[in-house]
Amino acid sequence: MVGAGCADKGEAPVDGGGAPPSSPGGAPAAGGSSGGPAVFAQNCSGCHGPSGEGGSGPALKAAAGLADADIKGIIENGKGRMPSFAGKIAADQLNGLVAHVKSLTK
Ligand code: HEC
Repeated sequence: MVGAGCADKGEAPVDGGGAPPSSPGGAPAAGGSSGGPAVFAQNCSGCHGPSGEGGSGPALKAAAGLADADIKGIIENGKGRMPSFAGKIAADQLNGLVAHVKSLTK
């Protein structure tokens, strides 16, 4: 979305004086319409359930001990009967998806 030249990454141009329109404060970009929950609903809920409770795939509570990188690896490479999603989920959506998966493991 923001694609205007990235030669200098010194300081973000914060200049407007007010709360940023879409940053609740905590997570970088969670809760957006194309963020983790939507990606999960489209790609993962069929096997893991809409809330990660499990279905034909295991409940995602089983992933509670996994690091972000492990979850990313499983999504990209697949695991057992789970297919690989490499190339199917955009890199910038992957982080949001991993964050969402982690939220479902709790
Ligand atoms: C076709 C069904 C299917 C789909 C779609 C699917 N999974 Fe899975 N998933 C599985 C199965 C089956 C396993 C267990 C693999 C094993 O351990 O052999 C698994 C395992 C996992 C694990 C690891 C759990 C553990 O205990 O190690 C994670 C995390 C996971 N899936 C996340 C996802 C995410 C995120 C998506 C969407 C991008 C997704 N899965 C889509 C079937 C699926």
